[in-house]
Amino acid sequence: MDNRPIGVFDSGVGGLTSINALNEVLPDESIIYFGDTARTPYGSKSPRTICEFSLQIADFLEKQGVKMLIIACNTITSVALKEIQKAHPTMLVQGIIEPAAQEVAKVCNKDNSVGIIATMVTTQSRAYENALHALKGDLNVHSQACPAFVPLIEEGAIESETMDTTIHHYLDSFVEQHKIDTLVLGCTHYPIIKKEIEKCCPSIKTIIDPSMALAEAAERMLGIHDMLAEKKTQKNIFYASDLSADFVNMINRLGITGDYRLEQHSF
Ligand code: DGL
Repeated sequence: MDNRPIGVFDSGVGGLTSINALNEVLPDESIIYFGDTARTPYGSKSPRTICEFSLQIADFLEKQGVKMLIIACNTITSVALKEIQKAHPTMLVQGIIEPAAQEVAKVCNKDNSVGIIATMVTTQSRAYENALHALKGDLNVHSQACPAFVPLIEEGAIESETMDTTIHHYLDSFVEQHKIDTLVLGCTHYPIIKKEIEKCCPSIKTIIDPSMALAEAAERMLGIHDMLAEKKTQKNIFYASDLSADFVNMINRLGITGDYRLEQHSF
């Protein structure tokens, strides 16, 4: 048993899409979230810069006394997971790509055409293809980078014509060419536009949001180490490096419940 909080982080508002799943699966855990809203997006930065920023956040969260780091960001997981584990050898660290791949491998077989949409960095890293093929070598996997989604989401341009046009731009020919039937939201920002994607791409049968798989993986890891909390000991805290109205609006938009406190911290 360990009542210390868990640290959850992302380049911005994206990781907030994991908070409802975490609250549901781990209701007794206290959460400290960090969104690097001042430096988002990460998805088009160099792996070296992403590692540097992520290590700063991990250090910050460790200083806040967290018992575990949950990387609610595919981009960071794809290029910085090992660096973070190396820098924090005694800390539990859970990335998002492995649980996401396990979820996909559970529901898909070689007859599916699986599309992974993600940032440029995640796509170029081939982290999803590698994780999926390690689990099921015959899976039919295709990737598409959608670099304009994150800046639009961070600006709150969600139910907009610009968003619909951008979805059509990235996905129409991708879905048609590869006959995609299962789409994996390989960026934690994308669940925020899931409804828009469903509307613009009606031929896709299944859209996989890995947030529940991430929460369940975190629960397993805490359980294995006998570090599940017995009860919530503090309000959740949401840190942003730029505590803007957009950040607060996203917390409300996602219907994140329970008492929480907002804080700003910049590096
Ligand atoms: N939410 C992040 C992810 O899951 C990326 C956002 C960004 O480009 O900063 O990949």
